[in-house]
Amino acid sequence: MIATHVVPRHVAIIMDGNRRWAKAHGLPLSDGHRQGVEALRRTVEAAARLGVEVLTVFAFSEENWSRPVEQTRAIMELCCSAALGQMNDLVRDGVRVRLCGRLAALPSPTREALDRLCASTAKNSRITLNLAIDYGGRREIADAVRALAREVERGRLSASAIDDDTIATRLYTAGLPDPDLVIRTGGERRISNFLLYQSAYAEFSWTETLWPDFGDEDLAAAIDDFARRQRRYGT
Ligand code: FPP
Repeated sequence: MIATHVVPRHVAIIMDGNRRWAKAHGLPLSDGHRQGVEALRRTVEAAARLGVEVLTVFAFSEENWSRPVEQTRAIMELCCSAALGQMNDLVRDGVRVRLCGRLAALPSPTREALDRLCASTAKNSRITLNLAIDYGGRREIADAVRALAREVERGRLSASAIDDDTIATRLYTAGLPDPDLVIRTGGERRISNFLLYQSAYAEFSWTETLWPDFGDEDLAAAIDDFARRQRRYGT
């Protein structure tokens, strides 16, 4: 039987195509990312209205640091100004923000702005916006394994007690449900080191739409398609 009207609890998005959007419009690359923030704001609201509990977005990958320094600096500044500029609206709209990544390498103003955003929205419960920043899936698993190895070394954990769930509790996403649906905009069809452990049973949705053009209808279409699929979990 095909399930219909099923809303995914957790949607994760690879927001690709911001620079291509800027180039296509003859604009500086940073304008693509600025429009990307607008698309993110729209999508958070649309997801909340549709009943999604958690929205994780890939805002900056560990690999993105190898881009020209002026581009990484511009994205960091944008994260900082968006965090401060949207704080009141996010508080008002019931959005709880949390972070997912190594974070230590972020410039301090960006780190501080994001920390403030998380603290001021911590009590919200309408939807959780999980920002993957300086995120890499393999590195996340390595961090979790290292944390577990230390606990074993200290005698607090037995190696034989480690199972799938033990690892999940040491990931950056600890406490969140696994993503049910992963959407990638911008036409590429790869996972690019995003939520590798957590996406074991996720459904995938690819769209040619560039992220700044992504809107309510695109999200609704991806969720509608998701609702028509039959998830078997290997059974
Ligand atoms: C990929 O598009 C996207 C990014 C590297 C970053 C996207 C970031 C935002 C939209 C801002 C996030 C804001 C907050 C508040 C966290 P791309 O730059 O690789 O574009 P391309 O695929 O066209 O090259």
